[in-house]
Amino acid sequence: MVLKRMFTSSVGRKFLVALTGTLLILFIIVHMIGNWNMFLGPDAMNSYAEKLQSLGGILWIARIGLLLAFVIHIFLTIQLNIENKMARPIPYKKKDYVKASLSSRTMVLSGILILSFVVYHLLHYTFGVVQPETFKMNLTDSTGKPDVYRMVIYGFQNPIISISYIIAILFLSMHLDHALQSTFQTFGLTTKNIFDRLIKISHGFAIFIFIGYNIVPVSILIGILH
Ligand code: HEM
Repeated sequence: MVLKRMFTSSVGRKFLVALTGTLLILFIIVHMIGNWNMFLGPDAMNSYAEKLQSLGGILWIARIGLLLAFVIHIFLTIQLNIENKMARPIPYKKKDYVKASLSSRTMVLSGILILSFVVYHLLHYTFGVVQPETFKMNLTDSTGKPDVYRMVIYGFQNPIISISYIIAILFLSMHLDHALQSTFQTFGLTTKNIFDRLIKISHGFAIFIFIGYNIVPVSILIGILH
């Protein structure tokens, strides 16, 4: 009953968007920190990847939870967006772009690009469709573990692939910049006094994600990681 009301009321759906968004943000932070194992060398990265795989059932529960959060987040944002447009069939004559930031105006576009990126990324490193010759299942390190380290190195030594990732992560950072502000507002955690500070925190977080992820492809492109 409560769940039904959550999915049908506008406030409930906004809350679910913020809740699923928070789960996705947590995953994004954990995944980024996991990727930094690349700087500790092949052994650390491959052991980390193997440890994750050995979680078995727990890993599958996390994957299904993540997928559900992703689907609910996208479905509800599209639905809320369409409803907003239908409530105002004639758009404002002159859009007030002074207050609305670039990130907030491009949420749908950056969202679509992130979805496309995630599909591409899964085909690349999870299913090995993009570069089958370098997929971890075909490569093992000296201890016999799937060589995720070399798979990532080979992937990002291709400048087209690296640059596509860098651009995708730029859109992800822009999306998160506005998402963090909206989430705080939806959860009622903002007051007028802290709003300016919240904007700075969101910008800082977006920059942290942009650098934190891109440090891997950039380090491979310029040869720091090889
Ligand atoms: C430079 C950036 C990134 C690198 C180097 C990277 C690396 C990887 C690697 C190596 C895997 C496969 C792990 C394995 O099977 O052992 C993976 C899986 C995955 N990545 Fe990324 N990733 C990056 C960015 C992202 C971003 C920005 C997102 C989300 C917005 C993301 C979402 C995922 C997901 C959902 C999986 C599948 C996890 C699973 O199989 O359970 N990745 N990533």
